[in-house]
Amino acid sequence: HTQLKPFPKDFFWGASTSAYQVEGAWNEDGKGPSVIDMREKYPERTTDYKVASDHYHLYQEDVRLMAEMGFKAYRFSIAWTRIIPNGTGEVNPKGLEFYNNLINELIENKIEPIVTMYHFDLPYALQARGGWSNRETIDAFVKYAKVLFDNYGDRVKYWLTINEQNMMIMHGKALGTLDPNLEDPDRELYQQNHHMLVAQAKAMDVCHQMLPQALIGPAPNISYIYPASSKPEDILAAQSFNSIRNWLYLDAAVYGRYNKTAWSFLEEKGYVPTIVEGDMEILKNAKPDFIAFNYYTSKTVEASNGEGNDKNNTGDQEIVIGEAGVYKGHNNPNLPKNEFGWEIDPIGFRTTLREVYDRYQLPIIITENGLGAFDKVEEDGTVRDPYRIDYLKKHLEQMQLAITDGVEVFGYCPWSAIDLISTHQGAKKRYGFIFVDREEFDLKELRRIPKQSFYWYKEVIASNGEKL
Ligand code: BG6
Repeated sequence: HTQLKPFPKDFFWGASTSAYQVEGAWNEDGKGPSVIDMREKYPERTTDYKVASDHYHLYQEDVRLMAEMGFKAYRFSIAWTRIIPNGTGEVNPKGLEFYNNLINELIENKIEPIVTMYHFDLPYALQARGGWSNRETIDAFVKYAKVLFDNYGDRVKYWLTINEQNMMIMHGKALGTLDPNLEDPDRELYQQNHHMLVAQAKAMDVCHQMLPQALIGPAPNISYIYPASSKPEDILAAQSFNSIRNWLYLDAAVYGRYNKTAWSFLEEKGYVPTIVEGDMEILKNAKPDFIAFNYYTSKTVEASNGEGNDKNNTGDQEIVIGEAGVYKGHNNPNLPKNEFGWEIDPIGFRTTLREVYDRYQLPIIITENGLGAFDKVEEDGTVRDPYRIDYLKKHLEQMQLAITDGVEVFGYCPWSAIDLISTHQGAKKRYGFIFVDREEFDLKELRRIPKQSFYWYKEVIASNGEKL
């Protein structure tokens, strides 16, 4: 393109976090335990989530720093277990109060709250009764959703249902939401998936009924799948994996139907979920107002050779679904990798944006994108992260190209606003614009230090993306 389209006026420049990764205060003020809190094991030499970045106590300072960067939006998640400690019973006034305060603080600072209703941290009390394997969890989610709409709907206009439902299914065995002793865990995952799809649809519907002004959408992790070569078998494998990993979730959310290619995979593997009467109508009748998605990298696959498990190649985050036969992960020789083995692919971001918009024609907001790295405080007290600036700048350039291509994007909330505990490598893997001075096991003073990327992003926002 010779002539780039500018970023839209009123674009939501911001960043993201999730409750369990940033808040800490895991058992304070009546909060119930979540599946995250009850995890027995963490990856070796990594911390738990008990204190995290202590955002629960330091949120005012954090919001002040976000305002200083010029944030127009902040995407955070509400911990279900603060609002309804046992998942479905009593509402906890102290939990309601915390998010009331946070939302008010944001609004005072002219920052639009964008709320994820559920980001991995299912109430443990529900898990103990089967979690998403149990259909009753659908009702618990809808009840929780109503409490949120009732209490925050006067101030929160943008809602996200479930964070990365597709990753919860594909990493299901790792997230503590699946009983490993089940006879057929893979089939069970797709049963859980179906229940989550119904829960999401019901929540979208209730949102539209209760809050006619509000907008709601799903928030999966979407990355376009490349074939390893132009061999027809590889193209077919990539097409299958695109359907299984991406379109299964978005077709269900937007069109209320199961993607055919993904469905035939479920049939072939014997993973077809039980669908009760009325479920498909519920899916059909609910419509999202926009699509939010998280993007870190593209993926490349080749045809399966039929041996062993077919794995995907996301460095530290291996995805294993079922047995061999569909696709095989492939390292893309054209892409550099970050320190954790994740491929870096800004052009893939443009491709993914185009593809999602072509398929669904709904406005898009990016709710995660970012670079995990081992940042450190220099002797002069600064934190220099040019590698993160480089990553974000290249992705923003490609996003602007996608906007120029005609894709409707209304916001960019990279991961993460402030340093938090990563899902896989504890505190040492950092993503934030704001450094949180703690170590894996030594909490120090949790002092906030704006990184070099903080000042860079501030300029980006002030110029509405003209100065990248
Ligand atoms: C996304 C999640 O999968 O990726 C976040 O929504 C997570 O919760 C992020 O932190 C990065 O993954 P990780 O393992 O590097 O923290």
